Amino acid sequence: MKGSEVRTDVGAFYTPSSENDISIYIHIPFCERKCSYCAFVSFCLDKSEREKYINSLLEEIENFSTPKKVKTVYIGGGTPSLLTKDEIFAIFSKLREKFDIVENVEITIEVNPNSVDEEKLRAYKEVGVNRISVGVQSLSNKTLKSIGRLHTKEEAIEKLKLIKKYFDNISADLILGLSGEKSVTKYAKELIKLNVKHISSYMLEIHENTKLFNDVRDKKYRPLDENGMAKSYDKLVKFLKKRSFKQYEISNFALTGYESKHNLNYWNYGEYVGFGVSAHSFLSHKRMANADTLQGYYKREQKEEKITNAMEIEERIMLGLRCCLGVDISILKNLGYDIQKSESYRKFLKEGEIVEDDGKFYLLPKYFKFADYYILNLLP
Ligand SMILES: C[S@@+](CC[C@H](N)C(=O)[O-])C[C@H]1O[C@@H](n2cnc3c(N)ncnc32)[C@H](O)[C@@H]1O
Ligand code: SF4
Repeated sequence: MKGSEVRTDVGAFYTPSSENDISIYIHIPFCERKCSYCAFVSFCLDKSEREKYINSLLEEIENFSTPKKVKTVYIGGGTPSLLTKDEIFAIFSKLREKFDIVENVEITIEVNPNSVDEEKLRAYKEVGVNRISVGVQSLSNKTLKSIGRLHTKEEAIEKLKLIKKYFDNISADLILGLSGEKSVTKYAKELIKLNVKHISSYMLEIHENTKLFNDVRDKKYRPLDENGMAKSYDKLVKFLKKRSFKQYEISNFALTGYESKHNLNYWNYGEYVGFGVSAHSFLSHKRMANADTLQGYYKREQKEEKITNAMEIEERIMLGLRCCLGVDISILKNLGYDIQKSESYRKFLKEGEIVEDDGKFYLLPKYFKFADYYILNLLP
């Protein structure tokens, strides 16, 4: 396989735009209830706390000082579908006031099946949202209940049918490795029938300070073991390939043209600005992280880190090898790392595990799941 064959996975639709363009991420930390596995920054907030948060968010956007052209917008959470219609309008009117967001920019919102409805979908359409990411996780009612989800399989299907009436670009999240779920292929099959064009499939991670962590420790919950998880993943990859879903990153699969441009910008080392509690920004070789508590966020507490050449080399290799964008050899060289002199690099190249094409090197998608091994061996 030649590098160009890997690259065409994205080449057809993804042209990294001008270096001055940025992506925008907005964090909505509202949840009705915490799912057992979730360690994302989100809280069950009452109405007045939610209003306070939205006002603070609008103020943060207002005070952003460098006007830039926007290449993607992503409203993530938490549960952005808990935002009222008026809150959606307020956020987008502030964004459009501050930023140049042209018509074909990818604008994604994450929704949960239990809190999205027709009125909200119409509001998303009106403000220019053109991509919906639905948290499905599983299509087994037993599993959904066991992880604390507030929706059933039937509700997820009903909402996907509703979303299809308004949107073409639909993504769905599935979790691999949940108790008793040897395979998620049957769910992927149902999702495809429901017009889903993009599937993100994440391997279950067990984080400290979650209910799941305690349940696993107390032997009340038994996720799939590593071997079971690997089998489930391989089965899914094989199935989606047959259905023309390209694996363009370890956990992400899409029909051509439906890849997430927002994520591709992260993986391509593009600049982004994040608004909201715990949101990160990457601008002018600096990474900023907003506080991950509401109190800290309201006080605008932020950590800042300057990205050194050594860090950039490491990050570019890590990001580029996990997806089909690859890693630019001359950029590494300019940063002080001549990877073509590395013994491991030459060995992987010779064995056909990585390929070089047009000044970049790529890991073949079939090796994505071993990306950590290659990354470790290719770092300076
Ligand atoms: C920001 S989160 C949640 C989005 C949305 N609120 C929902 O619940 O569907 C995005 C995705 O991360 C995945 N995720 C969250 N915690 C995870 C964990 N511990 N292990 C694996 N995947 C996880 C889920 O698939 C989830 O849909
Ligand atoms: S998975 Fe989604 S709904 Fe569940 S707690 Fe996390 S952010 Fe909230």
